[in-house]
Amino acid sequence: MVFGKKDHLVGLDIGSSIIKVAELKPSKKGYLLNKFGMSRIAPGSIVEGRIADMGSVANDIKTLFKSHKIREKNVAISTGGHSVVIKTINTAKRPDKELHDTIFSEAEQYIPYDIDDVNIDYQILGESEFSPDQINVLLVAVKKDLVAEYIELIHLAGLNPRIIDVDTFALQNAHEILPYGSKEKITLLIDVGASKTSLNILKANASLMMRDTVSGTYQILEEINEQLDVGIEDAMAVMNGDADGIVNEDDFERICIKVSQSWCSEICEAVNTFQSGANDERVEKIILSGGGVFIEGFKEALLSELEADISIINPFEGLIINEKKFPESFITKAGPLAPIAIGLALRRIDDK
Ligand SMILES: Nc1ncnc2c1ncn2[C@@H]1O[C@H](COP(=O)(O)OP(=O)(O)OP(=O)(O)O)[C@@H](O)[C@H]1O
Ligand SMILES: [Mg+2]
Repeated sequence: MVFGKKDHLVGLDIGSSIIKVAELKPSKKGYLLNKFGMSRIAPGSIVEGRIADMGSVANDIKTLFKSHKIREKNVAISTGGHSVVIKTINTAKRPDKELHDTIFSEAEQYIPYDIDDVNIDYQILGESEFSPDQINVLLVAVKKDLVAEYIELIHLAGLNPRIIDVDTFALQNAHEILPYGSKEKITLLIDVGASKTSLNILKANASLMMRDTVSGTYQILEEINEQLDVGIEDAMAVMNGDADGIVNEDDFERICIKVSQSWCSEICEAVNTFQSGANDERVEKIILSGGGVFIEGFKEALLSELEADISIINPFEGLIINEKKFPESFITKAGPLAPIAIGLALRRIDDK
């Protein structure tokens, strides 16, 4: 009985605009998509990754679970944005215990917060490319008050937070199960959400560079609101293509193109920084995700600036899908928004 398994989890991606939930069922042939759902939250409920309206978001989560008849209470969630710091550091090879203590004592210099205010975790990436006596370590620091806030939210929604991951790692996790393409090619994962963008350059599933920025589709919402003098609710409908006649099509298109070009400049800057580094490597593949993929001009802007092969993620391709339950039209619409929830649903309770 799959759901009786102690390590079973539901993946819950609490985005600042849309919450997504995914539940997978392991089978002999691979993972089957059992449940998937999305629900919009009120703009302003989550600001800069912090929960501004705890009651309202908890209610949205409860309703989402209820409407999709998800009974599992153990969830894996993730955080991102300002309060999460991810850095690759270099340190001397040492025995395990000594290494642990050194990383914790060295961590302070890499983190812009008081060391007592953060939870620290790390993962050894392997030998340094510069010296056989050194190793690369991925250091992750998350502000304790942020973790406490998300735990409180999940409890308030009547659920148990069993894993608290980082958005970028969950996205990477979803990418790893995709059947297509060589993982040896240098690949840039770009997630443009509503209020943040995360960039992760990978080679053979190891991260070479990560960067988070505050760009996202809410910038378009703000521009529609300010420049075209349209209320937030209507601006939201315009952005999602659910409203006709509220604004002039050309004005809307101009805003989308302007904002998506600014995302493109930011991305090109990161790619150039990576490519001009010591290594002679180039980004060969770009995989886009997040609501930003729906914005007119974004993919086109990237295609005109970068020489990589650019595609939009479909995280369902790595799963077994019952087409009666999840028709093609749904998969196409939800695909770009789903990878983080799916990456989280792939976690097991005993994962680190
Ligand atoms: N079909 C669509 N057409 C146009 N825009 C869409 C569509 N679907 C989503 N979006 C846009 O994408 C946004 C949501 O994207 P996403 O789910 O990646 O953000 P999020 O995860 O909630 O935010 P963040 O990760 O920044 O906290 C919506 O606010 C909307 O602007
Ligand atoms: Mg998101």
